This record gives sequence, structure tokens and C-alpha cells, in this order.
Amino acid sequence: MSRLPNIAIDGPAGSGKSTVARAVAQRLGFLYVDTGAMYRAITYLALKQQIDLDNQEALGALAKGTRFSIVHFSQSGSISIWCNGEDVTPYLRNWDVTGGVSRVAEAAEVRCYLVRSQRVFARSGGVVMEGRDIGTVVLPDAEFKFFLTADLETRIKRRALEHCGDGRSIDTEELRRQLVHRDETDSNRTVGPLKIGSDAIVIDGTRLTVDDTVDRIVTLCQGRVA
Ligand code: DC
Repeated sequence: MSRLPNIAIDGPAGSGKSTVARAVAQRLGFLYVDTGAMYRAITYLALKQQIDLDNQEALGALAKGTRFSIVHFSQSGSISIWCNGEDVTPYLRNWDVTGGVSRVAEAAEVRCYLVRSQRVFARSGGVVMEGRDIGTVVLPDAEFKFFLTADLETRIKRRALEHCGDGRSIDTEELRRQLVHRDETDSNRTVGPLKIGSDAIVIDGTRLTVDDTVDRIVTLCQGRVA
């Protein structure tokens, strides 16, 4: 039996890629891997262990010693992330985790260990993996590569809605600052920066619904998957 293809979906924060990637995986019966959640998990563990987020050596050691597993809920298509036997999912969207994660994602050693774990998840194919460097670094041989964009205002609105869903009050200006700052650090770091791969299909989701974007991706991939 031939191996199922892998699908890489990259894009900036708030571009809708998590929602889209999860839905694509569910439609195709693939495993969904949210690599941002893995960087968030290391950030959460570092904060819990009071590791200085500028101490790249200590962060690297933490990433090296962290075993990830993904629990997939087939009905909702959602996943939970476990680190060394602890379910860290409830903490990944905490304000302090979101505020600190791009410093952690800058650490080359953290990236090295997480990329290794991400490749293990994709080893047998049949994975939809989303992040910033999936098509360019993690899975350069992925059969399908997409880069999702949306304008800044749309991305701020989407992030605000996500936080509203948590029942928290939102400071939109603070969200804007965080997004702009995260775009900058994600795009300018030396290892695994956010950039559009020359072989990626770019989809601007500013005026598309999630369903439109999912349909587009599934249609493009279907020839190889069916
Ligand atoms: O997609 P997200 O907002 O959950 O990502 C959290 C952070 O992790 C963000 O600052 C970018 C970083 N990240 C990364 O550097 N590489 C990835 N493959 C995924 C996320």
C-alpha cells in the first residue's frame, strides 16, 4: 500500500491556519499536528519551572527532555498535547504563555528538538501539520504545502474572538501589539523563520470563510488521497 501524503500549512498568527488545518485533517481522516502548541507547551513548562525565557541553554535542555504525545478526538477533530505524561492543553493559551512563546521559539536548540519530534509524527504520512516552518524546514518533502495569510485587522478580530470564547475581556490594542511583535520575531529569527516557501500555494483568507479555504485545500489534495 502506498504511503499517504503529508500536508504542510504555514502562516502568521491569526491567519486561521489552526482551524483550517484541523478541519482538513478531519475531512481527510489524517492526524492533525499543531506545532505552535508544542512551542507553547515548552513555554508553559519553562514558566512553571521558573526557567528564564532568555536562557536558551536551559530551554534547550527542557525541550530535549520532553516527550510529546498527541491525543486525537476523532469526533471534534481536536487534539490534546501531553508532555511526559502531563496533559498541558488547558494552559497553552494562557496570557503569559502567549506573551513568552516567541522568545522560546527563537532558541535554536528548542527548535532542533521540536523539529525532530515533529518529523517522527509525520514519518508514516497522513499528517496535516501546521506552523511557521513546516513546508520550509520540518517537512521539505511534504507532498502539499500551503501558506495561509489574512490582513492584520482580520487576524486581530479572529484572535479576539478566540479569547472571547474563553470568557476573558480583551484589550484589542494589546492584541495588536502582541500580533505585530510576534510577526516580527517569527519572521526575523535566524532559525526556521516564517517565510513563504517557493513551492507553497498561497491562500489569502481575508475574504474567505473557513469552509471555503478548507474546500480549496481538500480539492487540491484529493487526487492523491482518494
Ligand atoms: O501558532 P501559534 O500562535 O500557536 O504559535 C505560537 C508561537 O510558536 C509563535 O510565536 C510562533 C511559534 N512557532 C514557530 O516558531 N514555529 C512553528 N512551527 C510553530 C509555531
